[in-house]
Amino acid sequence: MTWNRKHLLDIESLAAEEITTVLDTARAFKAVGERAIKKVPALRGKTVVNLFIEPSTRTRISFELAALRLTADVINFTAEASSLKKGETLKDTARNLEALNADIIIIRHSAAGAPHFLSRFLNASVINAGDGAHEHPTQALLDTFTIRERRGKIAGLNVTILGDILYSRVARSNIWALTKLGANVTLCGPSTLVPRVFEQMGCRVTYDVDEAIADADIINLLRIQHERQRRTMFPSLHEYTSLFGLSKERLGRTKSEVLIMHPGPINRGVEIDSEIADSRRSVILEQVTNGLAVRMAVLFLVNGGKGPQEIAA
Ligand code: CP
Repeated sequence: MTWNRKHLLDIESLAAEEITTVLDTARAFKAVGERAIKKVPALRGKTVVNLFIEPSTRTRISFELAALRLTADVINFTAEASSLKKGETLKDTARNLEALNADIIIIRHSAAGAPHFLSRFLNASVINAGDGAHEHPTQALLDTFTIRERRGKIAGLNVTILGDILYSRVARSNIWALTKLGANVTLCGPSTLVPRVFEQMGCRVTYDVDEAIADADIINLLRIQHERQRRTMFPSLHEYTSLFGLSKERLGRTKSEVLIMHPGPINRGVEIDSEIADSRRSVILEQVTNGLAVRMAVLFLVNGGKGPQEIAA
């Protein structure tokens, strides 16, 4: 299937074939990244703006590097040093960036729907880099890319997402991507953070962590999203770690080839034992590496690219 979208706003609205097109295009760009000369001219003369109104390490830097690898000009907008601080609206800020010839605006914002809002009045392409607790599409794409690269498929795999699901945009985007591609998704965590309403997205919900991870091919751990919680959702971090943290003892009761994933930032000793984070089963840093190829693919596709067939071998 060829890509035909100007924006990447969410995973929910994508067909499975569109997700596969992004993953196949990312695979071609990963091969480009293994060459001596890692740059291609696909976005030469284009301007990409990183409009991050919430903190980020991985997403912002990998989008910046992806745009540079595609030979685009890149502007990194710093919210703290901007006229947002003087009361300028998001709409006026985005329109001013477009007046400076921004072709692609990558937005991270605490408000769910902010990227969709921009896409309604901008001529530029809009990419969602995380909107509130709603979606984080490129994280789900790099997660599925990593799973497919390691396991050779997505369909039929048992993927357990463990932690704060309620406030997690990573969880929502992963659930959409994985279920569309045929994985069996199990959600686990404290009942206050994993409401049964998620079953309507095609997932299994359980509050028994040992049962949730016993048959998992992949365990994707999520941190507690303190910045989005408006009230206390469990008694203490210590209790959370003892009931739901991935300890060496718990890991010993999983499949020997299980892969451990985490979108980062990780809280060592809370949702994940520090040694597990650095162990051979962890693909946490591979996820970061793959994020570069996936974000190159997304920038290429929203700029009018059709698919992997257009990237020279
Ligand atoms: N995974 C992720 O979105 O990390 P950052 O917040 O550092 O971008």
